[in-house]
Amino acid sequence: MIITHGSNDEQLARTISRKLRALYSPLTVNLFPDGDLYVKFNTDVKGKKVVLIQSFYPNPNQSLLEVIFAAETAKELGAKKFILVAPYLGFLRQDKRFHPGEAVSSRIMAQLLNHCIDRIITIDPHLHRYRTLKNIFTIPAVKLTANEIIAQYIKKHYRNVFITGPDWESSQWAAAIAKSVGCDSLILQKHRTHARKVRVEMVSDVSVRGKEVIIVDDIISTGHTVAEAAKLLKKKGAKQVSVIGVHGLFVEKAVEKLRKAGISQIISTNTITHPTNKIDVSNLIVQSLRNIH
Ligand code: R5P
Repeated sequence: MIITHGSNDEQLARTISRKLRALYSPLTVNLFPDGDLYVKFNTDVKGKKVVLIQSFYPNPNQSLLEVIFAAETAKELGAKKFILVAPYLGFLRQDKRFHPGEAVSSRIMAQLLNHCIDRIITIDPHLHRYRTLKNIFTIPAVKLTANEIIAQYIKKHYRNVFITGPDWESSQWAAAIAKSVGCDSLILQKHRTHARKVRVEMVSDVSVRGKEVIIVDDIISTGHTVAEAAKLLKKKGAKQVSVIGVHGLFVEKAVEKLRKAGISQIISTNTITHPTNKIDVSNLIVQSLRNIH
């Protein structure tokens, strides 16, 4: 097995290869002067199982193209199998044609990958309108979840917490994590009017007064969702609000926004490399790769 990576996830790829005692050989990724993508393997892949560790952030569009270039090249060079581990899989939020004429990016991304890779492994993909990854992937698609390691982190570092999901979709994380921690949870209702504008409201009469609340969500992108949720929880009397995101993209000064909203601790997993990474997903991936024969 060869563990490689493109522009993203260097640290995670190194850790995974060390834990698997597999050869670590990063791709060379460059841009030609005109911006064309250049990808090169630096080891012989013939007859090998090639595992590319590549989250789709930063630079989601280039990341996808790097995967396609690497997969097609591996095949041309005689690799036995090409497995993509995309701890954070992008494009999934565009899961329908919201306005006439729009591309349904998630389906197109999956179709492109179906053609060139043998298997995909991802962590907590944003499945909202798709029930499962099988709705878009025809290749074996493995969905891992960080729920349990997040719950373990909470148990180790917090006492008497209350879990909150900022929107209906987040209940798949919030409810499972709360169950494992053994605490109560609450799901808020989100209304999104724009990529940078959301309104969050409380639709049940559960009290958060005086409580230590942890917001959990899959993606923290601009931070608007979590910031609005935090402001509401504070207004309702929460003593302290923290956030744990599986995929911390933190675009457009999101961290600053979250701090301004009164969030005391901002925590993410290392599916995307960021200073807020506190929860390590490498064992989840290692275990999944060990299960492939
Ligand atoms: C969408 O429903 C996701 O679960 C997240 O809530 C969303 O991606 C967060 O985006 P932002 O941080 O830009 O509000």
